[in-house]
Amino acid sequence: MKLRMIQHKEHFHGSDLEKIEKVYGIRREEIVSFSANVNPLGICPRMKEALSSHLDVVTSYPDREYTALRQAIASYCGTDASYVMVGNGSTELISLFIKSRHPRQALILAPTYSEYEREIGLSGGTCHYFTLHADNGFALNIDALTEELTAKQIDLLILCNPNNPTSTALTKEVMESILAYAQSHGIGVIVDETYCEFTPDVEAYSAISLVPSYSCLVVLRGVSKFFASPGLRLGYAVTSDEGLLSYIREHKDPWTINSLADLAGQVMFTDTEYIQGVRSLIQTERTRVCERLRAIPGLTVFEPYANFVLLRIDRPARNAAQLFDAAIRQKMMIRDCSTFPGLTEQYFRLCFMLPEDNDRLLTLIEEFFA
Ligand SMILES: Cc1ncc(COP(=O)(O)O)c(C=O)c1O
Repeated sequence: MKLRMIQHKEHFHGSDLEKIEKVYGIRREEIVSFSANVNPLGICPRMKEALSSHLDVVTSYPDREYTALRQAIASYCGTDASYVMVGNGSTELISLFIKSRHPRQALILAPTYSEYEREIGLSGGTCHYFTLHADNGFALNIDALTEELTAKQIDLLILCNPNNPTSTALTKEVMESILAYAQSHGIGVIVDETYCEFTPDVEAYSAISLVPSYSCLVVLRGVSKFFASPGLRLGYAVTSDEGLLSYIREHKDPWTINSLADLAGQVMFTDTEYIQGVRSLIQTERTRVCERLRAIPGLTVFEPYANFVLLRIDRPARNAAQLFDAAIRQKMMIRDCSTFPGLTEQYFRLCFMLPEDNDRLLTLIEEFFA
């Protein structure tokens, strides 16, 4: 089959395997996705065992309060079950919490995950960008951020920590200084911690322990990436804002988490051996892969804290679309980041997969730049 070079206004996201199948004629099962940010170890053994031996849970409605599930999440996160709300992936919770806070002026980072902007728009609010810059490694300047919060009369701040796609992370101390400012100025803060469990030290980066002290804070997480279960659709929110929680409980559809996800969630968070295995694989591969990437002239590697890394191509006449095209022909899919506000066609992102797959991609990238 003759392959055409994709005119790269066609962009492929982490879940666009159907589109790839059509355009490149490659079967989706053969593609290694370096773009979906899903841990490569597959689902945890405890969850697999529980699901396969208890399929009949689908014969009953789940507990409307999801009491056991919320307790399992609370124990895993070291928080109180009364602060936990579950949702159909973090996506449902992003939508519910934005709609319920009904922001007039919201501030998000640029670049960041696109779903926040979409939801702010749908809820009728105005979305402002706080632009991060490549020349300081996309670091967040806290003084400039707080100035912006006041200048733009922001009522909702959304941070992704670690941030997708930059893979930069704010420590709990830095987050606390932002929260102190927000709390005293009546600003709501949503922190999306979808990738927090991949950081070198979850305790040092997660804001969950700050929840009891800052009622302005909502932390969101899900099992799609760390627990390799995007099809399960299970996410959770942690907040001490009782008013907000009861408002959402009253307005949200019941049972948006099915019985299988309810059951899976009650066991997966206790699989400590699996959790340790994921952390150690990502830690080792993050260090190893980045070392090899840094040795490639003409490629800038932005220090990653999550299970993926952002890179910039600094060679004239070379861009991410060309690298995407070269990689997909070898059945490897990277993320061309040119659609993220604040990035250009020189940027791409890849997540850390199994060592042998990472080696195959590294060899391809080295050859692309040779
Ligand atoms: C930062 C971030 N938040 C949330 C999501 C969606 O997660 P979920 O599958 O839990 O809805 C993604 C998916 O890519 C993401 O990158």
